[in-house]
Amino acid sequence: MTTAADYTEKIPNNVGLASDRRLQRALESWQPDFLSWWESMGPALPTRDVYLRTAVSVGREGWAHWGFVPMRDYRWGVFLAERDPGRRIGFGQHKGEPVWDKVPGEYRADLRRLIVIQGDTEPASVEQQRNLGATAPSLYDLRNLFQVNVEEGRHLWAMVYLLHAYFGREGREEAEELLHRNSGSQDSPRILGAFNEETPDWLSFYMFTYFTDRDGKYQLGTLKESAFDPLSRTCEFMLKEEAHHMMVGTTGVDRVVERTAQVMAENDTDDVAGYGVIPLPVIQKYLNFHYSVSLDLFGGETSTNVANYYTAGLKGRWMEDRRKDDHRLTGDSIMVDALVDAGDGEPGIGQVEVAALTGLNTDLRRQYIADCLSGVNRWNRILAGAGLPHRLRLPHVAFNRKVGAFAGIEASPDGERLSAEEWQRRRGEWLPTDVDKTFVRSLMRPVYQRGKIAAWIAPPRNGINGKPFDYDYVHLA
Ligand SMILES: [Fe+2]
Ligand SMILES: [Fe+2]
Repeated sequence: MTTAADYTEKIPNNVGLASDRRLQRALESWQPDFLSWWESMGPALPTRDVYLRTAVSVGREGWAHWGFVPMRDYRWGVFLAERDPGRRIGFGQHKGEPVWDKVPGEYRADLRRLIVIQGDTEPASVEQQRNLGATAPSLYDLRNLFQVNVEEGRHLWAMVYLLHAYFGREGREEAEELLHRNSGSQDSPRILGAFNEETPDWLSFYMFTYFTDRDGKYQLGTLKESAFDPLSRTCEFMLKEEAHHMMVGTTGVDRVVERTAQVMAENDTDDVAGYGVIPLPVIQKYLNFHYSVSLDLFGGETSTNVANYYTAGLKGRWMEDRRKDDHRLTGDSIMVDALVDAGDGEPGIGQVEVAALTGLNTDLRRQYIADCLSGVNRWNRILAGAGLPHRLRLPHVAFNRKVGAFAGIEASPDGERLSAEEWQRRRGEWLPTDVDKTFVRSLMRPVYQRGKIAAWIAPPRNGINGKPFDYDYVHLA
């Protein structure tokens, strides 16, 4: 197994595709379908070329090549992190046994399902972000959008490789389906709710890359632990690319908050809409929305499927090897969020104790929430730095949920139970209203001149790959 990619091939790869003619032919016949999907569902803004990184190796040093590429000619490839020949299963009933190079028959259906669900999210976000190029606040941001888009396309390749290489005819059929389902489609929507929501403006894009892409990071983290070694190695490399997507979201929200705070401080007012920046309460509503729909991606607080995946060794915990327990969890328990009897006949928001294995979704979600909190703290430091008393915050886990224990109730961002009627009356205080969305959209006018930036967002501290902010990152067609 080499780490450098073979770029003489039609499909760049480090998996020795040239020595497996059947698989190579299968993937080469999927490639035109992928390209026609990219043409019809990928970035809509016509460009000549874009300053992009392309993965060329999976080694620690210099894994990416940088340069101007026409996006259609981007070399989407198949890259797995280097094999660790001594790797052993880290958890579950097979703990300590050597990892698997093939899919064990009894886990075939479950593994395929896990790969399809992950794979479905990758092209979905490209579809959601299709029209954002038309309103990019700068060439720097436009480049970042396209970088995220091509890499989500590559993540689709990563999952499709596994389906083709290890799951036979059913895998090939699933690979086709990944291009046929579409975000927001009436007939064949994407599998998970958050991936059928629109990303109509750049504030949504930054919130999406902060909150929803971050869910992806955590899911990949659990699959990286998998006993099925090719899945583990694929996810390990995807996580490397994912770090950039996290940066785009984190610094994107930073810059929106920074600009708003600046205008608030300069004009000594909270009412900054008239100055052409996004008021803090609107930023908070967007945060509330993207955070709550992203929490839904973690599934129910308890899940016997996920318990079985863990026991079987298919999907581990975030940072499994740092956990100080037996990595089997058969006798352990965990407190999970739940509706409990509040004593007045009405169910209230509380917690119950369940078997640790059944509560694994909650465990993962808590890791995620702690990570989200670090972003909020960062944005609050920007507000504090501008001398403002205002603060952003994460809403309660029961707020605006469609999945899990709180799907059937309504709650305020403080976690106070509300009647359906009160929720309807007050939801506009907490979630973006049509007026808010129209206002945000009204600010979204493209800025394509080198070194210029839209008035509603601060410029980034640094450019990309050592280039300055005013670099010509994108050449429009
Ligand atoms: Fe991805
Ligand atoms: Fe991503």
